[in-house]
Amino acid sequence: MHRPVEVLVTWPDYATDAPGIGAALREAGLEPRLAPKLGHRSPGELRALARRAAGAIVSTDPFDAAVLEGCPELRVIARVGVGVDSIDLDAATARGIAVTVTPGANEVTVADHAVALILAAIRRICMHDAAVRRGEWSRTGEHAAWLLSGKTVGLVGYGRTGRLVARRLRGFDVRLLVSDPVAALDDGVEGVTLPALLAAADVVSLHVPLCAGTRDLIGAEQLALMRSHAVLVNTSRGGVVDERALADALRAGRLRAAALDVFADEPPAGSPLLTLPNVTLTPHVSGLSTESIDEMTRRATASVLDVLGGRAPADLANPAVLAGGALGGAPAPAPVGGRDA
Ligand SMILES: NC(=O)c1ccc[n+]([C@@H]2O[C@H](COP(=O)([O-])OP(=O)(O)OC[C@H]3O[C@@H](n4cnc5c(N)ncnc54)[C@H](O)[C@@H]3O)[C@@H](O)[C@H]2O)c1
Repeated sequence: MHRPVEVLVTWPDYATDAPGIGAALREAGLEPRLAPKLGHRSPGELRALARRAAGAIVSTDPFDAAVLEGCPELRVIARVGVGVDSIDLDAATARGIAVTVTPGANEVTVADHAVALILAAIRRICMHDAAVRRGEWSRTGEHAAWLLSGKTVGLVGYGRTGRLVARRLRGFDVRLLVSDPVAALDDGVEGVTLPALLAAADVVSLHVPLCAGTRDLIGAEQLALMRSHAVLVNTSRGGVVDERALADALRAGRLRAAALDVFADEPPAGSPLLTLPNVTLTPHVSGLSTESIDEMTRRATASVLDVLGGRAPADLANPAVLAGGALGGAPAPAPVGGRDA
């Protein structure tokens, strides 16, 4: 019997009947198979789920080389978002599997969230919220919040999200420092080395991709350079920070507070960071808003339709896959956001 062409969808709450989303897959004769990733997912589980899929619309599922080897029909992995650190791009390219991303769809939301986390940390929003619910009314002394205006904010990474954070922060009259080895800087921001940024900033916000060069970029040595009243905010990837060193620094009062949206393991069960009162936590939602989710799922769906329809998709993370003859050898566009975006 003829088997429908399957598209594995691990992105949660995929609108299976919505025009341009699930309905578009069905109109093209494709069958969405929903397997939402709601927490940790092992490569073994993913391999079993993706074994018959021709396309995949995914969250941060671990597509390593062994998983890809177990998916002989897979032609396209459409990442809802921009981070592809969970996908072995070289293995995908070698197998002729296109990997696509959705740049431009969520950086505004990430920037809003980064600013929200900065303010939540320095205004101590979560601590005050919990105290009011307990019936307390403590507003001064050790409970007093701090001021953002007039302070120095260091942005590590000045790409799509870092730039938008800078734009938002200008209204707070802060001094803006940037550490990025390649990005062109705008008026009003000062380019400095990472050690200089860490030594000067009252708030440090991370906006780099996770790759070999940025894993544990902020470790014990870097944390020791930071000011003891400083706040660290991470909306990029958990692996950029050595979480154990961060927990030690926060516990010892060598850092005032942290606000984290991303973790080395997600969810971060058992992390020492969960027990610290001066840490604000969100579940990897920086890039998510009703608006960004709709746009990202539409674009990921369009990428799957393009590749399975024999057309070159927009926003390939591995354009070399086209040079290898996939999709009839369509000309390779420029890569999107670098291989580690
Ligand atoms: N939490 C979320 O929901 C969420 C959403 C979107 C993106 N992200 C993460 O944020 C990262 C950044 O996103 P983006 O859209 O701004 O990416 P981008 O590619 O536009 O910018 C990244 C910048 O980091 C710079 N960079 C690389 N290595 C560096 C280093 N060692 N030191 C300083 N700068 C360095 C690059 O030169 C580039 O300018 C993504 O790779 C992704 O992993 C997270």
